[in-house]
Amino acid sequence: MTSEKRTLQLKSKGQTTPLTVENPGQPPWPVLVVDDDADVITITRLNLRHFSFGGRSLSLVAASSAAQARQILQTSPGFALALIDVVMEQDDAGLQLVRFIRETLCDHKIRLIIRTGQPGLAPERYVIDHFDIDDYKEKSDLSAQKLYTTVRSALKSYRDLTTIDMARQGLETILGAAPRMYLHPLDSFEEFYSGVFTQILGLCHLGAQSTVRIANGFLAMFHKNEITIKAGVGEARLEKTTPPVQESLSATETVIPLRIRNETIGMLYLEHGQPLDPLALHLLRIFTGQVCVALQSLRVQQELRQAHTTAVQMLSEAAEAKDANTGEHIQRIVLLTRRLSLAMGIDAETAERYAQASQLHDIGKIGIPDRILNKPGPLDQTEFAEITTHARIGGMIIKDEKNFGVARDIALYHHEKWDGSGYPEGLRGEEIPLPARIVSVVDVFDALVNCRPYKAAWSLTEAVNEIRRLAGRSFDPRVVEAFCRLHDEGMFAELIQTTH
Ligand SMILES: [Fe+2]
Repeated sequence: MTSEKRTLQLKSKGQTTPLTVENPGQPPWPVLVVDDDADVITITRLNLRHFSFGGRSLSLVAASSAAQARQILQTSPGFALALIDVVMEQDDAGLQLVRFIRETLCDHKIRLIIRTGQPGLAPERYVIDHFDIDDYKEKSDLSAQKLYTTVRSALKSYRDLTTIDMARQGLETILGAAPRMYLHPLDSFEEFYSGVFTQILGLCHLGAQSTVRIANGFLAMFHKNEITIKAGVGEARLEKTTPPVQESLSATETVIPLRIRNETIGMLYLEHGQPLDPLALHLLRIFTGQVCVALQSLRVQQELRQAHTTAVQMLSEAAEAKDANTGEHIQRIVLLTRRLSLAMGIDAETAERYAQASQLHDIGKIGIPDRILNKPGPLDQTEFAEITTHARIGGMIIKDEKNFGVARDIALYHHEKWDGSGYPEGLRGEEIPLPARIVSVVDVFDALVNCRPYKAAWSLTEAVNEIRRLAGRSFDPRVVEAFCRLHDEGMFAELIQTTH
């Protein structure tokens, strides 16, 4: 809150005009004086009129009773200090007010100083032992100089407590963010930066419309706590210019390099309405260090994923080279497997895994002689028996390893049939892994609607009728149901038009 706003807020409650020595940029310390003696309040004002601590003056608000003080504290929280008389509407009104502040309002940060004119009614030892106060003074002892010293030391203690509290909150934010950065499934850099910006927003208390930019091309706009990320913005500009250094920026800009070992992988650039305080900057640097490590881990994760995809593509291309007829067939299988999986209500991530794995369904054909694979005409019994071994060969080529489990299931079982009459193991029903059941429908459908050395292409209607006829015999009825839904939506007609 700015000094101007704070002053206005206190004025609007109809309290005494605040005593302020304005210091633009730094709000005055808000102090509450509670006393039923108007003279005491006047003297307090006079004695503190030139007060300054940490470049900040005082904003004094007066209350003439404990009841009025309660009302002020409830409607205008955030006082740094309260000077409280003991005997007001009751003999212990001031002490009850202390209890109200600490126990009801749960304000443990505000510094409380008891000032009493009748120490007999509230003995120092008793009050110090039983009430959570920071100092006890007899009014007769409080000369102008002593009051100045007492208020100064109380405000110093408040400032230190506030600093510790902010550091605690900042560290809490950082510690809370770490598991989210590592454990949350981060699918893209955009999602990653979105999380980072949210944390920075909280960490630096950045207001609406602040801008955060990372030099490798992401821009985030904060507006009313909504975050918009724009990828690619500023990339070209920043590539051509030297990364900005902190010394060349204004007080409302901050640049922090993102470094992994000795490599600068990007720059974090912030524009903020007010200069960042040293604590926020320190926390931001700690947080940025964590961001770098998480970023590196995300990079490695993406590189591994890419390496896996490339390995699968290379293998499937090896199979394609062997069998000239299956070139585009594989691409259609991938597309249809993805669509059919989604139509069955399978989540997008799993559908994509099935689709990528389907590329390897006929990898076993690598082990089948060319004269059989490319024979222009029907196969005899021996040749057919030989070609069926491609399923087992595929299962042997693709190891039973976590990342290739789906691909292996598909390669090994895509010729199994729902009624148990398929090969290589004669599995039936749900014994056949689901991705293999999906690919078997897709594989047969694609073979039907396209030419083969041994047959002409069927029409779409003929092919769909055939798939429907084989539901419960060759195919899982649920897969066929989803397949028919896709057909009704016109998906296959569109596909055949674009690929033929
Ligand atoms: Fe096959």
